[in-house]
Amino acid sequence: MTVRFTRRDTLRAAGSLPLLLAPTAAGLAAGADESPALAFATAEAERLSAPLQSLRGRLPSGLTGTLWRNGPAEHDRFGHRYGHWFDGDGMIQTFRFDGAGVSHRARILDTPKRRREMAAGRRMLPAFGSVPPDPAETRRPDDMNAANTSTVVHAGRHMALWEGGSALAFDPETLEAEGFVAWRKDVAGAPFSAHPKVEADGTMWNIGYLPVPRPLLIFYRIDPAGRLAKVNALPVSPLGLTHDFVVTERRLVVLLTPFVLDRDRFASGHTPILDAHVWRPELGVRALVVDKDSLEVERRHELPPGFHFHHGNGWEEADGTIRLDLCQAPDPAFVTREFRDVMRGETRFRSEHPVYRRVVLRPGGSAAYEHGGTAAADFPRVDPRRLGRRHDMTFALASVDEPVGWPLRRTVRFGPGETDGWSWPRHRIPEEHVFVPRGAGEGDGWLLGPFLDLRRRASGLAVFEAQRLADGPVWEGILPYPLPLALHGTFAPA
Ligand SMILES: [Fe+2]
Repeated sequence: MTVRFTRRDTLRAAGSLPLLLAPTAAGLAAGADESPALAFATAEAERLSAPLQSLRGRLPSGLTGTLWRNGPAEHDRFGHRYGHWFDGDGMIQTFRFDGAGVSHRARILDTPKRRREMAAGRRMLPAFGSVPPDPAETRRPDDMNAANTSTVVHAGRHMALWEGGSALAFDPETLEAEGFVAWRKDVAGAPFSAHPKVEADGTMWNIGYLPVPRPLLIFYRIDPAGRLAKVNALPVSPLGLTHDFVVTERRLVVLLTPFVLDRDRFASGHTPILDAHVWRPELGVRALVVDKDSLEVERRHELPPGFHFHHGNGWEEADGTIRLDLCQAPDPAFVTREFRDVMRGETRFRSEHPVYRRVVLRPGGSAAYEHGGTAAADFPRVDPRRLGRRHDMTFALASVDEPVGWPLRRTVRFGPGETDGWSWPRHRIPEEHVFVPRGAGEGDGWLLGPFLDLRRRASGLAVFEAQRLADGPVWEGILPYPLPLALHGTFAPA
């Protein structure tokens, strides 16, 4: 399989958006002590480093390793501010737990995209949700790769992940970008999504969402040594935007949203890729069940429409019934509208945020949403030891009292029985929590919860006993600087 990108088929963008009119985050924050605008300000420096100062509690001595995080952090540069939360250049962060304390380091990733813009002295490359004035031509998706969405550690290699292009390897000590990962020559530059799954034996699975020139959903199997074991680029038309997937013991499951690239809108070259997608609820959500050995589709299911980014986990029962969970909204307005609004300091969410749901896909072809929460929720994570097997606990962030959700200020555990949770004070915005296993049973471990403290204007990290969330954090530490909200992280034990 060869994936070719031509100039005509990659993102071309021309014309300017009224971004120069957008106020800077610093301006938005001025005079408002606890303004959430701080969450979308550019990081204070390209490199940051400091120990966390303990605020309360005791750091568990058995908790050792590194929490790696990534997210858009350079929203402003050369007097230009991006128009969407997901546009900014990525910043890799490490929170290193050595048993006695926690130290933090961060660095803006020097991608080829950013180097080109630094050399030109201006923003010039299209981003996910906005296009700078007088944009340069691009020849391949990696020309725009901001490496800003997630990170994974696999086979000794540290990688920053984006949605539309390659994984970017970086040095774990210096955090310096090393170059794009080419899994094989003929798939070099193909999209490698931000939510790969690593199984207990070291096998890594991933998808790639490639809407042009020919809509393809790419499935990757990477062996425990970090080599491409198998790849299949599956033609899917129409192809809906797909950010995440689940693995079961024998299958991969993808739920295609009905948010579909309009080729004409895209080909005009004037539209960021987000806005080249159109909402087509009549398509519903289409589930593809893919065999892990052949990477071919075995079953298809249809569900009512909805828009989602994230899954918790999935598993398959003896009769072939597949169950999985996800956080799903009625439509993508929270992404297309609100995640733009926040860049202008508007943080009153008017659109419906995702809620936690479970899905059942039966072998005969029927499918249903089985259970739906009512509170807004996102960033679902499970005990990684349950990957692909039945899980009874999904950790997430949820809303407290805001009718539409954001910021999601409650750390929760969803389960078949009682749920557990703890609400953060209003001056703090928690970020994606990551589960760290400890003992043997599901949920035995810690939950690491980074946060931004608007009152202190500083970021920090909380540690929870994962099965006693209602008790609040067992330890909290704070940094001497704020960080813009990141997106995703992963924990690597010492
Ligand atoms: Fe994500």
